[in-house]
Amino acid sequence: MGFQKLNDRFILEQSDNIVDLIECYDLGNCPVYVYDIDGLDQRISEFKNVVPPNTEIHYALKANCNKHVLQSIKSQGVGLDVVSGGELKQGLEAGFKASDIVFSGVGKTVNEIELAINEGVKQINVESVQELERICFLSRKLNKPINVAFRMNPDVDAKTHPYITTGFRENKFGMDFLEISNLVEILKNNKNVHLSGLTMHIGSQLRDIKPLEDATKRLLSLWDELISQGHKLETLDLGGGLGIDYKDSTESDLANIQLYGEMLKSLLKDFNGRIILEPGRILVARFGALITKIQYIKENRFKNFAIVDTGMHHLMRPCLYQAYHRIIPLKFDSSHASDEKLYDIVGPICESSDVLGKDRLMGHLRQDDYLAVCDVGAYGHVMANNYNTHGLPIELAYSKGQLLK
Ligand SMILES: Cc1ncc(COP(=O)(O)O)c(C=O)c1O
Repeated sequence: MGFQKLNDRFILEQSDNIVDLIECYDLGNCPVYVYDIDGLDQRISEFKNVVPPNTEIHYALKANCNKHVLQSIKSQGVGLDVVSGGELKQGLEAGFKASDIVFSGVGKTVNEIELAINEGVKQINVESVQELERICFLSRKLNKPINVAFRMNPDVDAKTHPYITTGFRENKFGMDFLEISNLVEILKNNKNVHLSGLTMHIGSQLRDIKPLEDATKRLLSLWDELISQGHKLETLDLGGGLGIDYKDSTESDLANIQLYGEMLKSLLKDFNGRIILEPGRILVARFGALITKIQYIKENRFKNFAIVDTGMHHLMRPCLYQAYHRIIPLKFDSSHASDEKLYDIVGPICESSDVLGKDRLMGHLRQDDYLAVCDVGAYGHVMANNYNTHGLPIELAYSKGQLLK
């Protein structure tokens, strides 16, 4: 599934060599994000197959909002999780029904909340007392009902990079369990606003299931408490967060997905509400590659640099989170295999943090060679910017060897 190294070629399953595809479509002007939609389709099925039957999947659109990606998500009956008015509009324009969209995010503005209420989203995941008061005020003003779920902060260490930890007590996300009576009190005088459930999201790129399990237990105990007080809750939203091993290939994901599914099935076997999951990375990360062309090979006494036509402006993850991405030459020249050297793969940006890969052992690289930066389907193009006034990379999506229009 997905991108593979086959003999001397880096290929997309069911398609030709990517270089041939790029050249054949006269898109030699890299950089380009390439998406494997068949791989994504298969991944969505794999994920659906392991989660409990009473689960609704809401893909976290922030991970990748390419129109073909969204089409694939929609065609499999998966809903959306969005975090801004812009993302909400994007989801609606892609054909998702508002009732299949969960609206998360820590800083929703008046305009964004009005949009969500007017469109009738499935639920707004509330992040603070003041946000709940704002929602109550706006639903009264618009005279329209709205469902809310309280995003709680379970105070667990997600054991991931500190910039993507969101369920620890010092993070800005979610609410302290001690706030619950206050929140419930506010709803008593606001009949338009219906408490439909509880939600959490403890972080991203989680490789260890245990923090997710601990946090789910905490949320479940609060759920039971509210039910015993007579609240009619419907949805338990456990967020996203499942990670991948960026140093390994696609096959290594399945074991983790399986473990996650088993954990959920075991913890929630007696749960009779609806479970919501908001996966992003685990669905899309593997099915994107960033294809770049080497502009210069620059060597000094200490280092060999391959200077490419993409960098931190097009893929922020390495400079933002010290993230690792496999980097593979698109054409493998076996005659150069013995000529391996350590290269730093760097971009054109005027920052020394503009490094896509450090000390990578590779066969002899040459000017105009293509490289594939792997596993960039999540938090890749969505974070791209045009710093130094470079253009954005184009995006191409393939299915069954065909370029999708
Ligand atoms: C509220 C919420 N849900 C879901 C996600 C998706 O996370 P991931 O891509 O790690 O699955 C995020 C991302 O940070 C998020 O903030």
